[in-house]
Amino acid sequence: MRYRNSWDDATIVAIERVAKSVMQLQISPTIGTTESFTVGAHIDVSVLIDGKTEIRSYSLVGEYASNKPYIIAVKLLPSSKGGSKYMWSLKIGNKIRISQPTNNFELSHNTKDYLLIAAGIGITPIMGMVKTLKRKNEVKVKMLYAGNNEEEMPFIEELKSILGPDLVLHYSDKNGYYDTSKLLDCTNAKTQIYLCGPLPFMNAVRKTWEEGPFDNSNLRFETFGASGLFAPQEFLVSIPRFNKTLTVKKNQTVLQALQDAKIDVMYDCKKGECGLCQVTIVEYSGDIDHRDCFFSEEEKGENHKMCACVSRVANGNITIDTGYRGS
Ligand code: FES
Repeated sequence: MRYRNSWDDATIVAIERVAKSVMQLQISPTIGTTESFTVGAHIDVSVLIDGKTEIRSYSLVGEYASNKPYIIAVKLLPSSKGGSKYMWSLKIGNKIRISQPTNNFELSHNTKDYLLIAAGIGITPIMGMVKTLKRKNEVKVKMLYAGNNEEEMPFIEELKSILGPDLVLHYSDKNGYYDTSKLLDCTNAKTQIYLCGPLPFMNAVRKTWEEGPFDNSNLRFETFGASGLFAPQEFLVSIPRFNKTLTVKKNQTVLQALQDAKIDVMYDCKKGECGLCQVTIVEYSGDIDHRDCFFSEEEKGENHKMCACVSRVANGNITIDTGYRGS
């Protein structure tokens, strides 16, 4: 059960490899022009995986320009459930279905001090923020851009030219994992922080802020993909309320397994952000791989609830209750 915006036919008008495993695609609505959007916005794309239609969200790269195509960048993920493979298979001229832009990661303009943090393909919503903020007078912008290695990270040269010494680049192949406590040294109580990247990195930054001296509400973030702590595995989910046990395949979410079994579950974002799809954990074996950013680290540790759209079980099985929802 999800309310969603309208869909348009669109055409791939340009494709460019912008890093070793990152493809940039330009997309124009087949009829009419692109909708105006603010930096941090994304579009949903209807992708075909194993003959089934699914939806993937991609941040819009850069700022809105009238009569210019939407630009997205897609990283080819080895653990992909098929979305990135589908996007990489597209050619110029191919038709796809896209939603109009939506922004759940809006840049607020009520401070003069910003820290932008991007890890991996989480750079995509941040690119537009950099450009918008750098055009403003008397605004301080610092940025950390972290990734596995230089060749996997798009837009480095452009960022260097925009930010100069205010850009910190971190390559974990050379320097190991980034120590997120260092971020506190370049922030103060008024700094607004915008963060996007893989879940383990985002969790580390969130933990730093939860334990640090500054207001957590200054840390704003968006998930990018739902990478977890364990590689996806098949597991069983039992729902005693409906007397059912389902198999959640490696390339499937709990939410999809419930829907396939005609068990009605509420959802919206399907990215672990809104919490609408949460189910109660009755019991489990193995590990719960919480891949959402809706629950706090403390709540995740309690393992009482999980987001069915992204979170999984590793090395075990789970029994859940979907609450009042009917079958
Ligand atoms: S649908 Fe939003 S967290 Fe699952």
